[in-house]
Amino acid sequence: MASPLLFSAFLFILTLELEASQVMAAPNCGPILATDVDRVEFAQNLEFLEAEYFLYGALGRGLDSFAPSFAKGGPPPIGAKKANLDPLVAKIIEEFGYQEIGHLRAIINATGGIPRPLLDLSTQTFANIFNQAFGFKLSPPFDPYLNTINYLLASNLIPYVGLVGYVGTIPDLTSSDFRRLVAGLLGVEAGQDAVLRALLYERANEIVLPYGKTVAEFVNRTAELKNRLAMCGIKDEGIIVPLSLGAENRTNSNILSANTDSLSYARTPPEILRIVYGTGSENKPGGFYPNGAVGNIARRYLSPA
Ligand SMILES: *[C@@H]1O[C@H](CO)[C@@H](O)[C@H](O)[C@H]1NC(C)=O
Ligand SMILES: *[C@@H]1O[C@H](CO)[C@@H](O)[C@H](O)[C@H]1NC(C)=O
Ligand SMILES: *[C@@H]1O[C@H](CO)[C@@H](O)[C@H](O)[C@H]1NC(C)=O
Repeated sequence: MASPLLFSAFLFILTLELEASQVMAAPNCGPILATDVDRVEFAQNLEFLEAEYFLYGALGRGLDSFAPSFAKGGPPPIGAKKANLDPLVAKIIEEFGYQEIGHLRAIINATGGIPRPLLDLSTQTFANIFNQAFGFKLSPPFDPYLNTINYLLASNLIPYVGLVGYVGTIPDLTSSDFRRLVAGLLGVEAGQDAVLRALLYERANEIVLPYGKTVAEFVNRTAELKNRLAMCGIKDEGIIVPLSLGAENRTNSNILSANTDSLSYARTPPEILRIVYGTGSENKPGGFYPNGAVGNIARRYLSPA
């Protein structure tokens, strides 16, 4: 005979499955069901991406040369390399890279951690994103590792996704230990994003060579792309915007991307997957995660089909 406890466990699983199939059916911008551990492990996918991109970009070597156990046997990234950065930006990115090691340590300590997913940080992946953003093939292909401005433009894709993910996650966490952890992660991701965007804003009117487009236009195009892929409205903004997107409708500078009350936007895991896979579908891996992200939440959307 089924005990009430078993019965409610069954109902819980049923709801989970219903939820998952609804999310798979159509673009869904609403909340998902998941445990605290699953939510934080989902974020770990992004922390791995940031760690490898920043460490390689600044130093030419990644997580395995600082904390080899953190990958839990997951494969090394494809195509990441040292970027040709000016001394100021090199120093900033090196610090960001070390911060990501700390974030991974804290997540592993709290959850046990997931194995590192296969990450594709090759020039080709970034070139595809920028081609998609402009709607035509940039020639030569966009290379994030070529110089400081290219690296900053490519970096602008990365901590912001983590930041909006953490803003989305905190209200759904049940345990105060996890809320404390994620608040701490959010603070630093937001800081990284602010530094990157301020550096970009400083150069907003510079032309990105040899493409004949300004830095501001690049940021606008990639923000538009992320909004299109995620399919949940405007949650990513350029650094120079129409007044309607500026703080209090009073300025077209937009160092920080935020809503009409200047609160950070929130994204759900499916929205984030649509962006980081570059496919607009949480069911179709690609982009930075050719084999998909790891952990229960990401795997839920990767049923063989
Ligand atoms: C590891 O997690 C425990 C709680 O699970 C916490 O008390 C401790 O401070 C954490 N240690 C580090 C180094 O983060
Ligand atoms: C991109 O720029 C266009 C033209 O100024 C503007 O209408 C649009 O709101 C901008 N998009 C974002 C996401 O900043
Ligand atoms: C700014 O303009 C938008 C419409 O574009 C409006 O919805 C919003 O309330 C305005 N914000 C403020 C603070 O006036």
